[in-house]
Amino acid sequence: MASPPPSAGPARLVVLVSGSGTNLQALLDAIGDGPEGFGARIVAVGADRSGIVGLERAERAGLPTFVCRVKDHATREEWDAALAAGTARFRPDLVVSAGFMKIVGKEFLARFGGRFINTHPALLPSFPGAHGVRDALAYGVKVTGCTVHFVDDGVDTGPIIAQGVVEVTEEDTAEGEAALHERIKEIERKLLVEAVGRLARDGYRIEGRKVHLGHVGE
Ligand code: GAR
Repeated sequence: MASPPPSAGPARLVVLVSGSGTNLQALLDAIGDGPEGFGARIVAVGADRSGIVGLERAERAGLPTFVCRVKDHATREEWDAALAAGTARFRPDLVVSAGFMKIVGKEFLARFGGRFINTHPALLPSFPGAHGVRDALAYGVKVTGCTVHFVDDGVDTGPIIAQGVVEVTEEDTAEGEAALHERIKEIERKLLVEAVGRLARDGYRIEGRKVHLGHVGE
């Protein structure tokens, strides 16, 4: 599967968030006043809940936002279709799940599969799911990290774009999940910015589990 033909100008990004939005902020900072140089610009930010710092960051940046809550829909499928429609309204080339704590469904993947990326705070395929940092600590790993990957219909199982490594030290106790997560996020923000920029600027090809960055057809 090759990257979609780019729209004219910088690639259009919709970013989905559920929390503090520091990964979103890293993208906003990297794009700054130079979307042409970065190769992408954020056209909207979506969330599955209101009242979060991630949405405040988007509003401060003057971006349109939308909220699509599961509890406002009769079924999970209806929520998924509404999220897909809300996202599609902004005609994104790429959709970025940056701390978006929901698994999307069939409709969303039908529209955005192959151009929907997620960042996860562990070295996949180890420790998928909502508690990647906690699960890695409990397992006793000596290194962990973060993974930027395309989203498929599994939980954190899609083709890997980039990974970053963080050492786990003797000081990282089970109670220190938040501190380890912060160290991971320092690496993760840079990794996400680099990955999104390269996908947007250079194009990509997905062959089975392999992601090839670089101009399609070269
Ligand atoms: C990030 O570490 C991201 O990997 C994680 O939530 C954090 C969001 O931080 N996502 C998951 O755990 C998804 N399974 P942020 O809101 O400050 O960007």
